[in-house]
Amino acid sequence: MEEKHPFGHFDDAAREYVITRPDTPWPWINYMGTRDFFSLISNTAGGYCFCRDAKFRRILRYRYNGVPMDAGGRYFYIKDGDIVWNPGWKPCKTPLDTYECRHGMGYTRICGEKNGLRAEVLFFVPPDARCEIHRVKLTNTGKTPKRFQLWSFVEWCLWNASTDMENFQRNLSTGEVEIEPDALYHKTEYRERRDHYAFYGVNRPYDGFDTDRETFIGMYNGFDAPQQVLAGTSGNSVAHGWSPVASHRFDLELKPGASDELIFVLGYVKNPQEAKFTAPAVINKAQARKMLQAYGTPSGADIAFATLKSYWDDILSRFSVASVVPELDRTVNIWNQYQCMITFFMSRSASYFESGIGRGMGFRDSNQDLAGIVHLIPERARQRILDIAATQFPDGGCYHQYQPLTKRGNNDIGGGFNDDPLWLIFGTVAYIKETGDFGILHEPVPFDNKPGTEVSLLEHLKISFAHVTDNLGPHGLPLIGRADWNDCLNLNCFSDNPDESFQTTENKTEGSKAESLMIAGLFVAEGKDFAELLAHPAVAADPKYVAKVRSAVAAMETAVKTHGWDGEWFLRAYGYYGDKIGSNENDEGKIFIESQGWCTMARIGADEGLCDKALDSAVEHLECEHGLVLNTPAYTHYIKDYGEISSYPQGYKENAGIFCHNNPWIIIGEAMAGREDAVWRHYCKITPSFTKDQALRKVEPYVFCQMVAGKDAARPGEGKNSWLTGTAAWTWKCVSEFILGIKPQYDGLLIEPCIPAAYGTYKIHRRFRNAEYDITIHYTGRHGKHFIPYTPGRHTLEIEL
Ligand code: BGC
Repeated sequence: MEEKHPFGHFDDAAREYVITRPDTPWPWINYMGTRDFFSLISNTAGGYCFCRDAKFRRILRYRYNGVPMDAGGRYFYIKDGDIVWNPGWKPCKTPLDTYECRHGMGYTRICGEKNGLRAEVLFFVPPDARCEIHRVKLTNTGKTPKRFQLWSFVEWCLWNASTDMENFQRNLSTGEVEIEPDALYHKTEYRERRDHYAFYGVNRPYDGFDTDRETFIGMYNGFDAPQQVLAGTSGNSVAHGWSPVASHRFDLELKPGASDELIFVLGYVKNPQEAKFTAPAVINKAQARKMLQAYGTPSGADIAFATLKSYWDDILSRFSVASVVPELDRTVNIWNQYQCMITFFMSRSASYFESGIGRGMGFRDSNQDLAGIVHLIPERARQRILDIAATQFPDGGCYHQYQPLTKRGNNDIGGGFNDDPLWLIFGTVAYIKETGDFGILHEPVPFDNKPGTEVSLLEHLKISFAHVTDNLGPHGLPLIGRADWNDCLNLNCFSDNPDESFQTTENKTEGSKAESLMIAGLFVAEGKDFAELLAHPAVAADPKYVAKVRSAVAAMETAVKTHGWDGEWFLRAYGYYGDKIGSNENDEGKIFIESQGWCTMARIGADEGLCDKALDSAVEHLECEHGLVLNTPAYTHYIKDYGEISSYPQGYKENAGIFCHNNPWIIIGEAMAGREDAVWRHYCKITPSFTKDQALRKVEPYVFCQMVAGKDAARPGEGKNSWLTGTAAWTWKCVSEFILGIKPQYDGLLIEPCIPAAYGTYKIHRRFRNAEYDITIHYTGRHGKHFIPYTPGRHTLEIEL
């Protein structure tokens, strides 16, 4: 049984997290959507949705950093006598008799009860549909008949989430709506270049409506006290400019024990340019009506919800474990894989920490995300690899980010992050090992998306590899460029202007001696993988080239051992002037996690004992109660030569925070060194389902966060940046391949666990290409391995190692 927690608990059978009080320490959110329409929804129904691009196609308005936090969403107001309340408690915050929010796979169910009236709202996005469904069920749980009113409410964003917050001289005049018996339509800017609109419809005639925010809420009121609701009315307002909204009102009656149900559809429609209008200024509503028909009946909504359920059943049936540790099982079987999917869908664009307007898709981020989903949605992984590769330049460098809507590289950031190209090898290897699809290597892929420049994906991998060997520094180690994985270690930036960004400001790489041991480790690890791929009979690359790759890897290992070893651990970097960083000689930042992780995963100097020593040092200096911090001692002041890393207060983010993304690097290093106790200890510390103190952690107890405050912080253990983080894919790789030991190979599965023997007996179900494996593993701590060659069909095995 799970421990009792103040805010909620897991319901593993239903694959849900159940929140039992609405005032969680931070909004605990969920995501809906699987293809190109996505929604964020908090446990009090806050949040927003967008189609394809969180910046350019924002449908609902959302105010980041507002007071109170998390204001705006899909609100239902109930007026029962003089009392006004919401099923999700907010925004009125009227105390409820009961409250429950269940976040499930792609849906959220919020249920509130007050004075004998129960309101349950199921929110979901059907697979492949461009709409949210809000299914509202009202039940009279009391002994007397009830007459009450229900209002729906959403506020439209004027599409571009960025200008929506800025350009009021225009925005406040552009809003346009159409009002129909089936739906309220938001058609702002449709008259000109846009070919898309949104609508909020419902499956029965309403008794009143509003589309003008001021009329509905009142100029001096907040969401918690809309004047129409307080008065029991609707203004039947037609928005012209200002702030368009959509609200329906229903006057309802329920006998004791009776229930009633309304189905709302909040949708987005894109029309062909030539079929935009059905009459002058009248939008073509055919597609909206189709959606309203499809989902606006109980059976239509049932089918859509069942389809969503079976989508996730299928996804989550591909890999599962049954062990003696429930926290491990729920992480592996449900939440870690779910988070990998969401992170793949969203990249780093839209969460409660990412505003959906800032970042596009990261080159390195997206490649790493692949490791979490290649076994779940391989065909989408394939497309993503080709999209990412197309943002590469002919010299092997690449755009650091690209825009999801256009798939074009982002010029504001440009390139020059010298770890980036290697991640393409990482992502492609993960994909081919999972799928056996060597054919992807022959796909033609352009440079910088310019037609006519296509070369094969394999060529892209070759130039990625060469980008490192073409850019070596004085010690034969990789030059860092703007930064490596740690975007905040800016060794060529030297910024003293607070108005410029560390990421985008001009770098002084000319004459720089700044070299990265993180890239060196990554190069050795990925170089070995690359050589193995090239030598595989299905690729059969020119042996001379394979030998060249191997000798470049060997040369790098030598360079690391000669110039990258500090005596007890691996150095982190050399600075612009050739000064050591992450060395015992430094006063602060003596040791860093990234180079210990990557050099031990690459097994550099393993025979000489360097890996064991580096891992011991990580434990000694970096480990604390909640995980391994990124560096220590933390920087206590700004150092111009190091950049953003030293801009953070001690214990936060890249300055000695527990950056969960890189903890699995150490854990994998530990697993490769065969040290299962350390593996398990480090894993449990960062894995949310093992969290003891939910209030301290603050963010959702069902997903990993990017960062947990480190030992030098004011509140060590406080989590931030939940959901969209490379931590999802890395912890997945770590637990599935290195702890449970199921490692996809080009020709089969290699079973090689590293888990304390006390938990060493478990069952795995694994779909692998056209095969299904049921494997019972008994791991006794002998560090054995077992290879299962791939053959299609069903296989049941029992293995003792
Ligand atoms: C970025 C990554 C980066 C990491 C460490 C994350 O926020 O998305 O690209 O590697 O921070 O700086």
